[in-house]
Amino acid sequence: MTLVNDIFSLKGRTAVVTGAASGLGREFAYALASAGADVALIDINADGLNETAQRIRGVGRLAFPYTADVSDEAQVAATFQDLLMTVGRLDILINNAGVADLSQRKIHEYSATDWRRMIDINLNSVFYCSREALKLMNSQKSGKIINIASIWGLVGGGFITAAAYTTTKGAVVNLTREMALEYAPHGIQINAICPGFHRTALGDFDDPDLAKLIISHTPASRIACAEELRGTIIYLASSASDFMCGSIIVVDGGFLAQ
Ligand SMILES: NC(=O)c1ccc[n+]([C@@H]2O[C@H](COP(=O)([O-])OP(=O)(O)OC[C@H]3O[C@@H](n4cnc5c(N)ncnc54)[C@H](O)[C@@H]3O)[C@@H](O)[C@H]2O)c1
Repeated sequence: MTLVNDIFSLKGRTAVVTGAASGLGREFAYALASAGADVALIDINADGLNETAQRIRGVGRLAFPYTADVSDEAQVAATFQDLLMTVGRLDILINNAGVADLSQRKIHEYSATDWRRMIDINLNSVFYCSREALKLMNSQKSGKIINIASIWGLVGGGFITAAAYTTTKGAVVNLTREMALEYAPHGIQINAICPGFHRTALGDFDDPDLAKLIISHTPASRIACAEELRGTIIYLASSASDFMCGSIIVVDGGFLAQ
């Protein structure tokens, strides 16, 4: 008989986490390792990557840090080629790397260069990394891809002005559905998480005015910690979610329920 805990185990699995040098990505990598996975880590921040790798080794798992820019198609292809030769198989990909834009510029004030940069980092990277992972997962006939979108992928910006960011996250939500439909028949489950406000380096969460504004819009009346997404990531990465394809899980303290 399978014990309930066993369905959440990631023993023997290999994962890749992008944006793993800080914030949510670091927590995702740590959670996967704590559940038994070895983890390849990708980020542009080499020092942060090494800190995450140390945490993973601290729980007895293997960590493989790769310094690379996920918005660069050639770097992604070279990184995956290298890491797949090293790790041999790939069970889990977390497309997490991303940037925000706190400038509050409206669309008529936005430069095309900044617009394209946001799309390259937050959206095109998901395509580049998923494509490399799916080449292997498709031949394995198994795998899990988890895209990190945002509450701002399901609604417009409201009290924030960040059209480029919300546009990329909305696209990640529908890319998740498209990928899920294409690969569900091949034993690969692809889902997304839409986090609400979690304290990381992404936003200026220590600004008292911003914190007050966020809290006033969040029924749970607080900003969450990055650790609070550990359970959701393990659920989506493990066999506990084997019948979930194209689902969008919201973890937002009630923000979107209003
Ligand atoms: N923190 C939140 O409240 C929140 C809410 C919703 C969604 N998200 C999403 O979660 C993801 C992680 O963000 P976070 O909050 O942990 O922020 P963070 O800034 O702490 O982490 C983002 C990581 O991505 C890396 N990164 C950025 N551009 C990269 C690139 N081109 N190539 C490789 N790595 C790159 C950064 O170096 C950093 O380590 C993002 O996609 C973000 O949009 C965060």
